[in-house]
Amino acid sequence: MGMLDGKVAIVTGAGNGIGRAHAMELAKHGARVVVNDLGGSARGDGSGPAADTTVELIRRRGGDAVADYGDVGDHEQAGALVARAVDTYGRLDVLVNNAGIVRDAAIWNMAVDDWDLVMRVHVRGTWSCCHHAAVHWRGRAKAGETFHARIINTTSGAGLTGNFGQTNYATAKAAIVGLTQTLAIELRSIGVTANAIGPAGATRITATMPGRDQIIEPDQVADDQWEPLNPANGSPLVAWLASDGSSMVNGQVIRALYDQIIWMHGWRQGAVVASGNQPWDATKLDAILGARLFQTGVEALYFRS
Ligand SMILES: NC(=O)c1ccc[n+]([C@@H]2O[C@H](COP(=O)([O-])OP(=O)(O)OC[C@H]3O[C@@H](n4cnc5c(N)ncnc54)[C@H](O)[C@@H]3O)[C@@H](O)[C@H]2O)c1
Repeated sequence: MGMLDGKVAIVTGAGNGIGRAHAMELAKHGARVVVNDLGGSARGDGSGPAADTTVELIRRRGGDAVADYGDVGDHEQAGALVARAVDTYGRLDVLVNNAGIVRDAAIWNMAVDDWDLVMRVHVRGTWSCCHHAAVHWRGRAKAGETFHARIINTTSGAGLTGNFGQTNYATAKAAIVGLTQTLAIELRSIGVTANAIGPAGATRITATMPGRDQIIEPDQVADDQWEPLNPANGSPLVAWLASDGSSMVNGQVIRALYDQIIWMHGWRQGAVVASGNQPWDATKLDAILGARLFQTGVEALYFRS
């Protein structure tokens, strides 16, 4: 009995790298998987049948998968992707939004088209797939069905802490966190959780960075072999988040780096100053904020002028 037996999952961008690893891991635990991939380059140029390779790998290992070649950034194609899961397997339980591209440059060199395409794939693509999945789940809930369903989105260290040369990508990956936290609020009452993972691995995306030209595809590493840069290292976390056992985890950001699973805590309130119910005076803020608040670290400070 597999921990995901009976589940139907979509993994976007599953033709290569981390997405391929997620799709194979979900199938290994019994899920039937829709393997989506547009099949273009790491910069998002072109298209192709990359999804077929992953489907073939899953089937060869005894799993059940079907390919989808849609562009997640296209709202109608994202809808067709969710429809493919429902038409092929009768339902959708797990949506893993993983598709991604990079178009790096320092902001003064970045073309506006590179901003637009990165935002389109990551932010609009994640949102569109979530939208269509949410319509499906809300329909089932309104019909009286109770169920567990899962959204697992993909953020990145760039979106959580920033990274030189990635104003487009970092903005997109931070936006995905805000989207995930809001989905967690909107969908919890119908049994859907939404979380974001921050994975890692030597993939086509990291190979675009200077000095990091190694690419490891997950099927090149044996199941029992340890490889620190294996894109599959975070996939067991995805399988667990996809399972019914993860119901208590909602709206969270979890990184999977090398052999670590890291629960991220962000945007917690630090030190505070209050004006004492009177308007602030900008000319006094240097003394209050510069000399006091930002010198105090995390210690709470209540200021009365
Ligand atoms: N590799 C890392 O270290 C790392 C770190 C943090 C986050 N990520 C994220 O992990 C995800 C997977 O990236 P990867 O590193 O495996 O790179 P990858 O290039 O191997 O995989 C990304 C896949 O997404 C597909 N894709 C791109 N645009 C698409 C679209 N519009 N519609 C459908 N599919 C599309 C690509 O064809 C590709 O197969 C991305 O969201 C990436 O930002 C990767």
